Amino acid sequence: MKKILLAFCLGLLCMNAPLYAQKFEGLAQTPPMGWNSWNKFACNIDEQLIRETADMLVETGLRDAGYIYLNIDDCWHGERDSLGFIHPDPVRFPSGMKALADYVHSRGLKIGIYSDAGRKTCGGRPGSFGHEYQDALQYAKWGIDYLKYDWCETEDINPKGAYNLMRDALYAAGRPILFSMCEWGDNQPWEWAQETGHMWRTTGDIYNCFDCIDQYPTWAAFGVLQILDMQEGLRKYAGPGHWNDPDMLEVGNGMTVNEDRAHFTMWCMLAAPLVLGNDLRNMTDDTRGIILNKEVIAIDQDPLGIQGFKHAAEDGLEFWFKPLSDGDWAFCILNRTTEPREYTIDWQQFNLHDDLSHRSTAFDTTHYNICNLWTLKDDGNTKKIRKVIIPGRDVVLYRLSGK
Ligand code: GLA
Repeated sequence: MKKILLAFCLGLLCMNAPLYAQKFEGLAQTPPMGWNSWNKFACNIDEQLIRETADMLVETGLRDAGYIYLNIDDCWHGERDSLGFIHPDPVRFPSGMKALADYVHSRGLKIGIYSDAGRKTCGGRPGSFGHEYQDALQYAKWGIDYLKYDWCETEDINPKGAYNLMRDALYAAGRPILFSMCEWGDNQPWEWAQETGHMWRTTGDIYNCFDCIDQYPTWAAFGVLQILDMQEGLRKYAGPGHWNDPDMLEVGNGMTVNEDRAHFTMWCMLAAPLVLGNDLRNMTDDTRGIILNKEVIAIDQDPLGIQGFKHAAEDGLEFWFKPLSDGDWAFCILNRTTEPREYTIDWQQFNLHDDLSHRSTAFDTTHYNICNLWTLKDDGNTKKIRKVIIPGRDVVLYRLSGK
């Protein structure tokens, strides 16, 4: 009898385990798009900013271009109550998170929130350690759709265990929540997190500089080129449902227009999540033109879901390709230098085979039509060589269409 009971219990356990040990599927078939408060506002956030940003996402056309997640980063927290449930800062978020989520949803958007696997967040607010299931329940009750989960104050916690624990807690709470892992690539999440999260940070924090490193005693923030270089070798780990995240965008936060365009383009070539980080209430026409370019966004959001790659580099220029659905390719020349450069594209030198997508450019047999995605001009086809000028710290971006 005892044996039968034991077998029955084990059976129950086995039946139950897979039910919870999983992430929500289908939430990130293409790289997630939205806005996050951190890059521009850091801890200086409140419900007014979030409501106004929701309005701006709608009014500017950003929502309709695909930016649907409105994410509140660190410092929204108040205290835990006597039962251990977390509440928002009552001064900055007096209406509470449920009311805010309702407002964001009423604007046709989704809402994201932030926590940390340790005892405290990076901004010193309460972390989720020891409260994972409670926090997941609370987020689900509020109507949250997206969780960014950070890695400060984690001491000797096992990263895979900590992230799987929160994944399971979210799943058990029952509301589909996109899980964005933010452990800065310290523990190579690309090797183990495909079943854990929908995206994982690959590096430390970005900041609004094109080619710099901001070194602090215990950590560093990186410029656009530094982060780009750190993506080397990671493309094979990304795909529909699980993306490499080279951090949020700094477009509109102080770099030059050329630098912003190059930054945005390279993130699209990387099939990166496109999470804006600027003040949407004060945008220049140049910034709007960059983040709202639907043809460029389509490179990022291409349903094939294959990250682009650097095929060659010479003298400060880099040549990138990204295979797209329908047999198309995105082709980009990045000028890393500060000087404009002239370059003659001889397409026959770019005949290549990509082992990951099993696709070839085959310029010898296929003549692609060239659409310049920043001028939106038809730039002829790949039969002939082509002379281009790439301004300093800028790109030329083409969609090559085989049909
Ligand atoms: C870490 C993350 C950032 C941001 C801050 C908030 O540095 O990497 O993206 O969330 O914490 O404190």
